[in-house]
Amino acid sequence: MKQNTFRRNAMTKMIATVLMGVTVVLSASVVSAAKAPSKEDVKKFLRPMEVPQGKNNISTPERVELGKNLFFDPRLSGSNFISCATCHNPSLGWSDAQPTAIGHGMGTLDRSTPTILNTAYQRFQFWDGRARSLEKQALGPIEAGGEMSQSLDLLIPELQAIPGYVTLFEAAYPGEGVSKKTIAKAISAFERTIVSSESAFDRWLKGVDGVMSDEAIKGFEIFKGKANCTACHDGFNFSDNGFHNIGLKDMEDMGRYAIKPIKVLKGAFKTPTLRDIDLTSPYMHNGAYKTLDEVVDHYDAGGFKNAGTLSPNMKKLNLSKKERKAIVAFLKSLTGDPVPFTVPVLPVQ
Ligand code: HEC
Ligand code: HEC
Repeated sequence: MKQNTFRRNAMTKMIATVLMGVTVVLSASVVSAAKAPSKEDVKKFLRPMEVPQGKNNISTPERVELGKNLFFDPRLSGSNFISCATCHNPSLGWSDAQPTAIGHGMGTLDRSTPTILNTAYQRFQFWDGRARSLEKQALGPIEAGGEMSQSLDLLIPELQAIPGYVTLFEAAYPGEGVSKKTIAKAISAFERTIVSSESAFDRWLKGVDGVMSDEAIKGFEIFKGKANCTACHDGFNFSDNGFHNIGLKDMEDMGRYAIKPIKVLKGAFKTPTLRDIDLTSPYMHNGAYKTLDEVVDHYDAGGFKNAGTLSPNMKKLNLSKKERKAIVAFLKSLTGDPVPFTVPVLPVQ
């Protein structure tokens, strides 16, 4: 991964590790053995101590503030009407509740809007992974004809003419001015602050009793075991950062294959995070499913034959109705506590 990590003070880290150990030990005595997470689960699924940082773009409050303004500013688009947040809307789990996105001139795009939640932890950006960092991703949608349809050569003087922005850029990147680089870096610094908050599942991992229903705990066991979901949705962010064809119906989009023309990647898309998944319906790169029940039914059937190469990890699961319901209950336990969010007041002059 071409990313540096932000190191917290070593002492804080040590204390936190010790405290975490204490919580785990305590929990073992309170929670009945069958319902307690295993040590391996705690290690694997608990949030890492550090949020990965961008190369040459260590986060500062000024950078995040500038990025937040840019993310919410419709003047970044050719129409002056569409911002990043139009599609990545904080009220809709940082997505848009559409099967596939609607962009410039109300045109419908071919793919659905992924959440920007936890993109800091992703090795690849976009459904086909064509950008290897947030910095490399950020300018794409501004210039894309179907999305914001704005020439950066026009945008830069537009921003330079707003004194409020000049001040924000100077505070964030002293001496660097308004440029493609500083725009991309600031937006990325902001995106890295959009990380999932604590969910019932996380509290359960930390040993808090009574926060996960028995059904959700059973769902987690099936998720890891019989249903084999962790073959792809693994670790804290529930993604292996890999690309797979899960056998969606009627698929023309060949996904990763367009970036890397290898047969196994025909129709393969990036494994998305499952954090806050209950907030971001419809699901899949093409918005094929509206509910989590439909998604689980899809996996239960082992996927459909499509024009691509089905992943060898897609097999009929023969789950009972109860088991399918338990998986959905588990997926819903991954929704983090609501995080208060204040939209910025943008510089007008
Ligand atoms: C018209 C709706 C729309 C707008 C506006 C938009 N996006 Fe997106 N965004 C999408 C869609 C659709 C994708 C997936 C495209 C693909 O994978 O080919 C995406 C993908 C992304 C991703 C990758 C996420 C992942 O998990 O792979 C990030 C990050 C992102 N957008 C950030 C931004 C930023 C920053 C802006 C503003 C500069 C922006 N988007 C503007 C619709 C939009
Ligand atoms: C072979 C790897 C693989 C396995 C196994 C797998 N998934 Fe997925 N999952 C993916 C990929 C890849 C996508 C995105 C597919 C696409 O859009 O084309 C996805 C999408 C999803 C989505 C929709 C996410 C979104 O934001 O749209 C959910 C929910 C989901 N999977 C849950 C599960 C569950 C539950 C299981 C087990 C029953 C499971 N997955 C098994 C790879 C996998």
